[in-house]
Amino acid sequence: MKLLNGSILLFSACILCTCSLRNDNSSSEEKKINAFLSRMTLEEKIGQMNQLTGMGLSNDMTGLVRAGKIGSILNELDVNTINELQRIAVEESRMGIPLIFGRDIIHGFKTIFPIPLGQAASWNPQVAENGARIAALEASSTGIRWTFAPMIDVTRDPRWGRVAESCGEDPYLVSVMGVAMIKGFQGDDLSSPSSLAACAKHFAAYGATESGKDYNTTWVPESQLRDVFLPPFKAAVEAQAATFMCSFNDINGIPSAANEYLNKNILRDEWHYDGMLVSDWGAIDQLIPHGIAADLKEAALKAAHAGIDMDMMGYAYTNHLEALVQSGAVSEKAIDEAVRNILRLKFRMGLFDNPYTTALDTAPYYSEDALQKAHHAAIESVVLLKNKNNVLPLLDKIKTVAVVGPLSDAPADQLGTWCFDAEPQHSITPLAAIQHEYAQQVKVIAKKGLTYSRDKNPQGIAQAVAAAQQADVVLFFAGEEAVLSGEARSRASIHLPGAQTDLLKALKKTGKPVVLIVMAGRPLTIQEEVAEADAVLYAFHGGTMAGPALADLIFGKAVPSGKLPITFPRLVGQVPIYYAHKNTGRPASNIDLIDDIPVGAAQTSIGFTSYHLDAGDSPLFPFGFGLSYTTFEYSDLQLSSTTINKNENLSVACTVKNTGSREGAEVVQLYTGDLVASLARPVKELKGFTKIILQPGESKEVRFTITPEQLSFWNHDNQLVLESGDFRVWIGESSAKGLEANFSVK
Ligand code: NOJ
Repeated sequence: MKLLNGSILLFSACILCTCSLRNDNSSSEEKKINAFLSRMTLEEKIGQMNQLTGMGLSNDMTGLVRAGKIGSILNELDVNTINELQRIAVEESRMGIPLIFGRDIIHGFKTIFPIPLGQAASWNPQVAENGARIAALEASSTGIRWTFAPMIDVTRDPRWGRVAESCGEDPYLVSVMGVAMIKGFQGDDLSSPSSLAACAKHFAAYGATESGKDYNTTWVPESQLRDVFLPPFKAAVEAQAATFMCSFNDINGIPSAANEYLNKNILRDEWHYDGMLVSDWGAIDQLIPHGIAADLKEAALKAAHAGIDMDMMGYAYTNHLEALVQSGAVSEKAIDEAVRNILRLKFRMGLFDNPYTTALDTAPYYSEDALQKAHHAAIESVVLLKNKNNVLPLLDKIKTVAVVGPLSDAPADQLGTWCFDAEPQHSITPLAAIQHEYAQQVKVIAKKGLTYSRDKNPQGIAQAVAAAQQADVVLFFAGEEAVLSGEARSRASIHLPGAQTDLLKALKKTGKPVVLIVMAGRPLTIQEEVAEADAVLYAFHGGTMAGPALADLIFGKAVPSGKLPITFPRLVGQVPIYYAHKNTGRPASNIDLIDDIPVGAAQTSIGFTSYHLDAGDSPLFPFGFGLSYTTFEYSDLQLSSTTINKNENLSVACTVKNTGSREGAEVVQLYTGDLVASLARPVKELKGFTKIILQPGESKEVRFTITPEQLSFWNHDNQLVLESGDFRVWIGESSAKGLEANFSVK
C-alpha cells in the first residue's frame, strides 16, 4: 500500500525553464514596449488586439491599417500585397507598428508532408522538425510569419475529423512531436525572416470532444486535464512557442475563450507564459451560442477578463472594448497586458527591425531537399499492419501488378486535410511512382474500380477484377478522400466509405494476393478488410511524395518502421479505446462473444467482466504497433535498482537484436504503470521511446532514464504527487508487448 499523502514535487529543471520565459520588465524589449504603451491611444491599443482575414489592398483594409485599427492579418498570400500593407502600417500609421501575417501552414505550404497523425506514426521527431522547417522556408517567402500550428490536442476519438491534424492519443508522444514542430517552424532564431512564429493550439482539451463531433462540449476532470490534455501545452511553453490559440469547446461548461482559470491561472501564473494568446476564429462571438454571453459586448468582456490577447475574426474587441474600458468593466491595465504580449511577439519576430519580405524571382518551393525530406517522412509514416506469408516486399518473381482503388491515383486526396496552398499537380501518386520507378521490374495494369472513396457505383469493379486476374499481385489503394477528415469532418461510422469493401472482396475472390494500402485521415474500422487482405500498409495521407514512398515500401527499397500513434478499434462502438485506460474493478477475462452465448441461456450476474459482447476487450491494433520486413528480439531487461527514493532517477535498459535478414528501424518504447495509488491510474503510460536502426544480426543496448516527474500524477487534491509504492516498467515493441519488471518507490 502506498502512502496516500504523497509529497508535492518541485522540479528544479522546470523551474529553470519557466523562469527564462518570464518577462523582465526592465529588459530593453520591455522598455521599448512601455514607451509604445505610453504613447498609444486606447483605440490604437484595441487595434493591436484585432486580427482580420485578408482583403487585399481594398480601401477598407488599407484604411484600417493606416488608422492603426488592426494588429494582424490572416490568409493574405501575395508578397507584394503583404509588403504594401506593411508599408502602410509602418510608414503611415501614427505608431508605425508592423503587422503580423498569419496562415494555417499545418503540414506543409507547397511541399506537403504527411498529415500530422502520419508524422506521429514515424515516432521520429526529426521528421516533424524537418516538415515544419521546410514549411517555414516556403511560406515565409510570401511574407507569412506566423502559422497556426502545431495542433497538440491529445485525442482518443477517431471519429473526430481533426484527429488527422493531431499527433494521436498519447500526451508524451504528442509533446515530443509538437516540440519538434515548434523547433522546425521557429528555427534557431524567431527573428530570422525565414522563421514562422508557432501557435500551440487548441488550448485546451479540444480533443476530448463528446462523441467525436467537432466543437462539441467536453467534460474533463482536473486530474485528467493535467495528466492527459495539458502536458503538450506545458511542453510548448518550455519550447518557447511564440503564441497559443484557445479552443472552441467548453470545458466543464466554460468555453476556452472565456476560461480565466485556463488562460490566466494555469498558462500565465503557473507556467509563466509570456507569449501571445489568440482566440480561434470567431471564438469570442461564439460565447453567445455557447450560451454564456447574452451579446457581443458581454462576449468581449468575458474574453478580455479571460486574458485573450487577440480576437481572430470576431469584431467583439473592436466594437466593444473601448466602451467596456470607459465604463470601468475592463481595466486599461488588462488592455495594456494584452498589447504588451502582442508587441513583445512583434519584437521577438524582428518585425520592428525588418518588417518587409524580399520578393524573390523564383519561389523556393519543391526544392530537392524538401522533396527528399517529404519522401523520407512519407516512408517513415507508413505502418505495416499485416504481412501474411511475407507477401511484401514484392520480389523479382512478381512480373505483373494490378494497381487498383480510388486512392491509387488521387493527387489531391493523398495530400490530406489542411493544406490550402498545396498544388496537387505536384503530387506523385502511387500509380505514377510505380509506373516511373518500377517500370523495368513489373508490368502495371491500372484500373481504379471506383473513382473516389465514397463511390458506390459498382460499374468499374468488373474491370478492376479483370486487371487483378491478369496480375501476380493486386495493390489496392483504398481510404478516405482528403475532405472526409479535418475541421468539422467528423464521422459517426468510420468504415471504408463507398463500395470499397465490396471491391476488396471481389479482388480477393480472384485468388491473387491482395495488398491493401489505406490512405486516410484517421484510423478506420477495417477489421473485415484486414482479414481479407494478405498484407496491409496504413499510410494515412502521405503528402506530395506519398506515391514514391509507398512504391519504395512495396518493392522493398525501403522497410516499414512506423508504429501506430493511436489505437485502432475493431468497431466504432469501442471508442474511446486507448491503451492508457484504467482498469475496472472487473478487468476483462473469460471473454464470451455474442455468438458463444447459448440460445436461452439463463441470466446471471456471476463471473461477469468488463468488455463488449460483440468486440471483446482488445483493439484491432494497439497503440505503438507496427511490423517490419525484419524481426526484432528484446532481451535482458535491467534496472539500476529495484527500489528508489522519491528524488532519484531509475535507469532501465534492454537489448534489442535484429533477428531477420534486412536492415530495419525499430521504435523501442518505454512504459510505466503505477500499481496502487490514491487514484485509479492508467494501466500503463508511455514515458520514452527511441528509434534505432539495426543491421541483420546486430544488437544494441537501449537505455532510458525514468525521472521522479515521470512517475508522478495529479491527485484528487489537484497536486502533482509521487506516491510511494510499487510500479511496473515495460520496454517493448508496442503498448501491448514488452519485457517487464517491477520496482518500488520509497
Ligand atoms: C479555425 C481552426 O479551428 C483553427 O485551427 C485555425 O487555425 C483557424 N480556424 C484559422 O484558420
